[in-house]
Amino acid sequence: MNPIFELLRGKQVAAVVCTQWGDTGKGKIVDHLADWSDMVVRPTGGANAGHTIVIDGKRYAFHLIPSGILRDHQGKKNLIGSGVALDPSILLQEITLLVTEGLSWENLFISHRSKLVLPQHIVLDRIREASAKGDKIGTTGRGIGPCYADHYRRIGLIANDLLNPSLFATKLRKNLAEHKRYLESFDREALRAIMQHPHLAHGAFYDETRLFNEEAIIATYARFAEALREAIVDTDALIREELRRGMRIVLEGAQGHRLSIDHGDYPFVTSSDCTVTGLAKGAGLFDSEIDLTIGIVKAYATRVGEGPFPTELGGLASAAWCNTPGVSEAMELERYPETARLLEGGPFGLGVWLRRQGAEYGTTTKRPRRVGWHDGVLHGHAVKRMPKNTILAVTKLDVLSGLPTIQVCEGYEFQGPDYQLGGTEWHSGKVTSYGDSDAHFLAHSHPLYRSLPGWRQQIGDVTRYTQLPGKARDYVELIERLAGRPVRIVSVGPDRNQTFVKKAA
Ligand code: IMP
Repeated sequence: MNPIFELLRGKQVAAVVCTQWGDTGKGKIVDHLADWSDMVVRPTGGANAGHTIVIDGKRYAFHLIPSGILRDHQGKKNLIGSGVALDPSILLQEITLLVTEGLSWENLFISHRSKLVLPQHIVLDRIREASAKGDKIGTTGRGIGPCYADHYRRIGLIANDLLNPSLFATKLRKNLAEHKRYLESFDREALRAIMQHPHLAHGAFYDETRLFNEEAIIATYARFAEALREAIVDTDALIREELRRGMRIVLEGAQGHRLSIDHGDYPFVTSSDCTVTGLAKGAGLFDSEIDLTIGIVKAYATRVGEGPFPTELGGLASAAWCNTPGVSEAMELERYPETARLLEGGPFGLGVWLRRQGAEYGTTTKRPRRVGWHDGVLHGHAVKRMPKNTILAVTKLDVLSGLPTIQVCEGYEFQGPDYQLGGTEWHSGKVTSYGDSDAHFLAHSHPLYRSLPGWRQQIGDVTRYTQLPGKARDYVELIERLAGRPVRIVSVGPDRNQTFVKKAA
């Protein structure tokens, strides 16, 4: 029996949520849980997320479809919940991929209340980022923010509108009218260029005089509707029914705690609540209905896009390099061809080394992810806000093999001009172990590290916690102490078999 199932004994609903800035390897843990469960639900986020699962050496990358789909042949249900920003075009591309692989999508269900991503959302997202002067978020350009903003402005469309063509057309025209007033203040040539993007049908939605070719959008979404019609249902009711029947459910998080619109480093966040509370809500459940929360913590930290990252290796230079448009894995390899020498190259070089070892290049954007040491303060801050039933899974521990020294942030020295945060005054030089998601505070906090000796051995074939080098265990146990929650799962490689359970202390 899969040892992870021991942790799930007596549970009915489990949630998998990242405790950092996303990209922590949730997909693999969800894939394990999918074997245990009867249903996997993706409750929040959209095609901004990307998860890669490796099964028998084969990589599968999805943005919207729950990772559990690869277990579909066993009749398990996969749901896209009402909290999801649904881009039907991306979903259909993923479905096509499944079909090509000979996998079925018969058990995929889409909430009729999921929020529809429309071409204007992608345009709004991209024009805002392109014209931002010093206040870029570094979004994935998938229209996520504008889609959720429309929902809160009460002008958004939902998946159910796809099932009612004339209502869809009326709502779409109204929505476009609202956005056009704002979009027309931008340079027309810039808008035209943005609308040539493949995610915007290579210009098919552009109209020289009206800006948007409404008929083309309506016709395209009508095709999406035809393809997806059977799958669009009331998923809240479906989940309730499965709960009543005693079925096991996994909630698959997207992004991470620090990217939550409500609890993350605002404004450098996504536009959904990626915490456990957000997951429950996006699946139509209450937090109290989740029996086990698995918080995923990567053995080091990564962040995509802009925003504070106190432990970033190479600091601002790293952020600038990773966020330079067009920088790719190939370009980085060309500039820094000798991997071994990077270990001697100071923090920036170390960051490139770690990025390369961990293959930290975006699934969605292909951007190099900014890389840094584990931040025990920020991690503790996130984990404290998670339910009491939380256990932790440390992922990608193998990536650190070969490092002479590993650093872990245990506190900060505030290094900014005087700043008032809540009831506390911060002066330059003040030392603290206090964590906060305030972006200004974090941008001026300098990390204070504890150094640990690294381990030389490769650990990818370790199958038991006790077989890990003592130094690797010390490291895992430090993460655990700083978080104040038990680490119960450790992952040492991309394959689903490279995962084992750590006994409770
Ligand atoms: P958006 O979600 O595209 O609006 O992007 C907002 C911020 O969230 C940007 O900094 C993105 O890089 C980040 N982000 C969104 N999705 C992910 C993800 O799946 N992994 C890591 N960062 C993400």
